Amino acid sequence: MVARRVGSVEISGIRKMFEAAPPNAINLGLGEPDFDPPRVVIEALGRAARDGMNHYGPSAGLQALRDKIAEQYLAKNPSTARENIIVTNGGSEGLMTAALTFYDPGDEVLVPNPGFVLYAPHARLAGARPIPYSLTAARKFLPDLNELEHLVTDRTRAIVVNSPSNPTGAVFPKSLVDRLAAFADRHNLTIISDEVYEQIVYDGSATSFWGRSDRVVIVNSFSKTLAMTGWRVGFLVAPRRLAAELNKIHYHIMACPSTPIQAAVLVGLEAGDGALRKMVREFRARRALVCRLLEAVPGLEVVRPAGAFYVFPRFSWSRTSQEVATELLGRGVITTPGDAFGSLGASHLRLSFAASRENLRRGIEILRAYAEGVVEGNDR
Ligand SMILES: Cc1ncc(COP(=O)(O)O)c(C=O)c1O
Repeated sequence: MVARRVGSVEISGIRKMFEAAPPNAINLGLGEPDFDPPRVVIEALGRAARDGMNHYGPSAGLQALRDKIAEQYLAKNPSTARENIIVTNGGSEGLMTAALTFYDPGDEVLVPNPGFVLYAPHARLAGARPIPYSLTAARKFLPDLNELEHLVTDRTRAIVVNSPSNPTGAVFPKSLVDRLAAFADRHNLTIISDEVYEQIVYDGSATSFWGRSDRVVIVNSFSKTLAMTGWRVGFLVAPRRLAAELNKIHYHIMACPSTPIQAAVLVGLEAGDGALRKMVREFRARRALVCRLLEAVPGLEVVRPAGAFYVFPRFSWSRTSQEVATELLGRGVITTPGDAFGSLGASHLRLSFAASRENLRRGIEILRAYAEGVVEGNDR
């Protein structure tokens, strides 16, 4: 009844766990800020609708918003202009648009393992084959250039990179960004760089791939930076000739992004990053709390995240990550099983610290009690 490609994808493991949760469960599962968009932005949305901005707009987005986004990328590449920017329906649509623009059936695409849940399915939907590259705690969850060199074939078309990373929180050092860009250039690969957490970093700053290769497409989003996951708005940054091609696919998926929401986002960008900086300050304090509490849990190994708002501890219990997450759910805390992000996520859990300090304390206390039970072997 349905096309074969539907069989190549599933609803993500993050959603499944969330939907199975009892009411009142402590949610350390979903990846979204527990903040609201800045008040000026909410007011601007109402105003835009009242002022009649309720109609189709340009496919690539409102010019004023594209100009403002381009301005923010000038420091990374001084020739960035409106023509490099496409406003999308969130990072998710940006990723799908990039997949359909760059992958042909039979192509191979290097994707992180563990990695965000859309990369491999999007490759398959485009008829391509995702080829996982490893991110392990032993290497601080950073890609290994030697492994990448071994994985490249003459069918490899693109590499997907994500720094800061969901689910690991790893941030690529600048030297690694340069080496990855050189690797991609050497093999004629397009770089799809998912930078939706670029501004949510705790130690120094993240290095963008923009300006480091002429075959790079940046996927970004306002979901996290303006705390508006439900508004569905993001953007792509690409060299002009690629942006024009991306815009064709974008048009066929979306027609155009939401007009009043773009007007409100523009007001948010003009207001500066005060709200974002406040949110990141709070996340930084929570990161310290979460790492301290998790380090005291028997059987967990924690790599301190440098960005995003996730921590990805490895456990040493003889259980699958699905089993652990399901047992924790039964005790009232939602986490995400690590293998929802790929095979190397086995024996890991993803905890989001976009939750109140109180809920983080209560949730990790449940995890600690559970871990002690497992260690004593008396919980089954
Ligand atoms: C790494 C990463 N990329 C892309 C997205 C998609 O974000 P959105 O579609 O809300 O902009 C997310 C959302 O969690 C993410 O974590």
